Amino acid sequence: MSYVRKEIDAEEIRRQQALCAQIFDRVTADGRRPLAMVDTYGCQQNEADSEKLRGYLAEMGYSFTEDEFQADVIVVNTCAVREHAEMRVLGNVGALNHTKKNKPDQIVAVCGCMVQQEHMAEKIKRSYPVVDLVFGPHELWRFPELLLRVMTGGKRVFATQKDAGAVAEGIPQRRDGSVKAWLSIMYGCNNFCTYCVVPYVRGRERSRRPEDVVAEARELVAAGYKDITLLGQNVNSYGKDLDCGVDFADLLRMVNDIPGDFLIRFMTSHPKDATEKLFRTMAACEKCAHHIHLPVQSGSDRVLKAMNRSYDREKYLEEVRVARAYMPDLVLTTDIIVGFPGETDEDFADTLRLCEQVRFDAMFTFIYSKRVGTPAASMPDPYTRADKQRHFDMLTETANRISGEKHREYEGRTLRVLVDGETGKVPYNLSSRTNGGRLVHLKGDPALIGRFADVKITASNTWALYGELAEA
Ligand code: 5AD
Ligand code: SF4
Repeated sequence: MSYVRKEIDAEEIRRQQALCAQIFDRVTADGRRPLAMVDTYGCQQNEADSEKLRGYLAEMGYSFTEDEFQADVIVVNTCAVREHAEMRVLGNVGALNHTKKNKPDQIVAVCGCMVQQEHMAEKIKRSYPVVDLVFGPHELWRFPELLLRVMTGGKRVFATQKDAGAVAEGIPQRRDGSVKAWLSIMYGCNNFCTYCVVPYVRGRERSRRPEDVVAEARELVAAGYKDITLLGQNVNSYGKDLDCGVDFADLLRMVNDIPGDFLIRFMTSHPKDATEKLFRTMAACEKCAHHIHLPVQSGSDRVLKAMNRSYDREKYLEEVRVARAYMPDLVLTTDIIVGFPGETDEDFADTLRLCEQVRFDAMFTFIYSKRVGTPAASMPDPYTRADKQRHFDMLTETANRISGEKHREYEGRTLRVLVDGETGKVPYNLSSRTNGGRLVHLKGDPALIGRFADVKITASNTWALYGELAEA
């Protein structure tokens, strides 16, 4: 079944903003400034979505708090990728019974990927009466309408219809920081890796128009952001649904051409279609960070096939060779799943071997989590949790050792970093990132935040580098 691209009319978003104004009048009528809390789980895409929820809430007149006892509206933006995140959400939402007892008018909303799954929406309907509003990722653009319905209807509202998804432009955003910004370039995923729930909850791949992406990037640069991360579940598919002849590498080039001193990052790339053109463009664009997050998931061809990843170990290794040939200083990070159904000791040994061969700068490792409705959920899974944990511990140890060794190679070198915040610790009071995204703790004046600086790396461990400002 093919997806027909859908765009939300600009008029619709203006109507939502008019509803924000109505809510503003209601919630500020007593002269009080109401408070909202947005609690985010999961990936950067969710962080970006939460910035839109906050954008709408700010237009409704809300200020923000981190204290659930103070909040008039609580929005929990959930993740469905692994069971662990779902358990945390359910535990925390359950605990809101206490806050609502103290504050009976408090409105609790749960949104995002977890509740887009039918069984989870049902569970909340049945067992979590504290929740007033439930909406999936496809309904985010009409959050004001849904919230107003809760305020005026006196009934719980559930909006989690199955949907392939649309593209909505013009939703107000309230970004978290002032140095780093997320910029969504596309939504959804068409890959249907057999373990993954994302394609079921986030719908089909759809790209924002290049002119909209570039306009937003321009605004970010003008507002002083120095580190812009282009976000998509699989950025290498960018543009395929648009038929305008712009692919992801072209888009990188267009953002790179915006005048100003800033860095461009992106995530995530799927190895099945990372092209030489992409690596060549990364190398040629002076603002593009030499970092690629290229999730390999497994080093075993048998497991990769069962995962429906559409590449094998050799293709992955070849991509790494090409990418490093274009960018010898490339920072390479990855995701790996341990304990996929039927993964044997030999399969796992293949993964370990691949890690030793590639030597990733950092690895994000996960124990396989069974997801309702995915093909892997019905695959035979004879290995015990203890087997999986043993493999997981071995992999973590390997990952940490390699990261530590790679970090040590930085010692004595002088690098350009972007200072992005304070650590709250002494003596290394500032945090910063290298072009490749490695964390560097620094001693220095907080006035440096938001600036690039040359730093001499003096020490390191598995997690971070430590440095001092280089003399000008
Ligand atoms: N179990 C464990 N890890 C998963 N991921 C995605 N789905 C699952 C699952 N069912 C991991 C993949 C992906 C990362 C974002 O989360 O490694 O790249
Ligand atoms: Fe999930 Fe695979 Fe899509 Fe990534 S590419 S979101 S792992 S289905």
